Amino acid sequence: EKIVLAYSGGLDTSIILKWLKETYDAEIIAFTADIGQKEELDGLEEKALATGASKVYIDDLRDEFANDFIYPMFQSGALYEGQYLLGTSIARPLIAKRMVDIARAEGATMIAHGATGKGNDQVRFELGVAALAPEINVIAPWRLEEFRNEFPGRAEMIAYAEKHGIPVTASAAKSYSMDRNLLHISYESGVLEDPWFDASTPENKDMFLLSASPEDAPDEAEYLELEFVQGDCVALNGNKLTPLQVMEQLNELGGKHGIGRVDMVENRFVGMKSRGIYETPGGTILFTAHRKMESITMDREVMNLRDSLITRYSTLVYNGFWFAPERLTLQALVKESQNNVTGTVRVKLYKGNVISAGVKSPVSLYNPEIATMEADPTQAYDQGDATGFIHLNALRLKVAAGVQQNK
Ligand code: ARG
Ligand code: SIN
Repeated sequence: EKIVLAYSGGLDTSIILKWLKETYDAEIIAFTADIGQKEELDGLEEKALATGASKVYIDDLRDEFANDFIYPMFQSGALYEGQYLLGTSIARPLIAKRMVDIARAEGATMIAHGATGKGNDQVRFELGVAALAPEINVIAPWRLEEFRNEFPGRAEMIAYAEKHGIPVTASAAKSYSMDRNLLHISYESGVLEDPWFDASTPENKDMFLLSASPEDAPDEAEYLELEFVQGDCVALNGNKLTPLQVMEQLNELGGKHGIGRVDMVENRFVGMKSRGIYETPGGTILFTAHRKMESITMDREVMNLRDSLITRYSTLVYNGFWFAPERLTLQALVKESQNNVTGTVRVKLYKGNVISAGVKSPVSLYNPEIATMEADPTQAYDQGDATGFIHLNALRLKVAAGVQQNK
């Protein structure tokens, strides 16, 4: 029997690795996706092997993550509950996909993960697996009573780790949980569970790893030009870049200027509210610039239609339906909507803000000759036409107002 485990090297998945091996008497194949979590990958292979894995996969999926997940999602303008750029949500389907590939290559019939039974991630992993490999069974130890009984708290986990020679790293002592990738870092639980707890104070600034706090950001604003082709950012300050390079450079710049911090209470798919803090420096710049690019290149009704679907799209990503037919259908619409989203956006980065500083496009729909308050040389718009336009639109309002008056 072989089990593919989504392994991070943290305390939870290390314990799960050992526990699965003993409980199921199975070979454990540890899999870690490199999706840009940086330092967290150091020494991981040795650690997995030392903990009892029979084989370790550490796969660099950063390009795939940027090209096939982050970029298509940013074309849609996705934003969950008005604030969250979905940094964790969008990574889970990619991890599920690669786990399925490994399971098939290894002849494994089971996949395991360390997500809890109270969160979104379990749903995302498992809906991903269901959509791609319905024959594979998933083990979620945190949902098993025997596992929870054995590990009711951190103390039991640390004791188990010590007993089995699993090194306990400093991060196990942190009073909150983190999830890091190319798009963001999320912070949840522990001290953050109190929504009145102020994480933005100078005493708490060590928590933030990607961004300076706006107060500490440079006093000098920095200009940046983003070039878009059909909704995708393809160059920064004139340098052609891959999506991965764009994300890395935007994270660097955004982080320096304190951009992209969000502190919110969100609605989890499983029904509870939860408090999360996010750092999404590059994503925030990209999101703002992309919207700006659309402002001069996108048709009004296309924008209206696409915007009306943003909530739907965002909820699908958040809830783990990336591989579902309705997400793919919406994606086709989003792609079509981006055909004309080409040009250059200039922004100024300053103390947590992405300030508009210009936009231009070879296919701009903005026509200053039509919009001008001066004489219109094109004669495309006759101000007299507006009289009838307003009369027709006013008709039903007048009828309704008349009825109200006569009541
Ligand atoms: N609340 C965010 C989401 O649902 C972040 C989840 C973080 N996950 C984690 N395993 N730390 O997308
Ligand atoms: C977890 O519960 O495993 C992390 C948080 C989440 O998935 O929402």
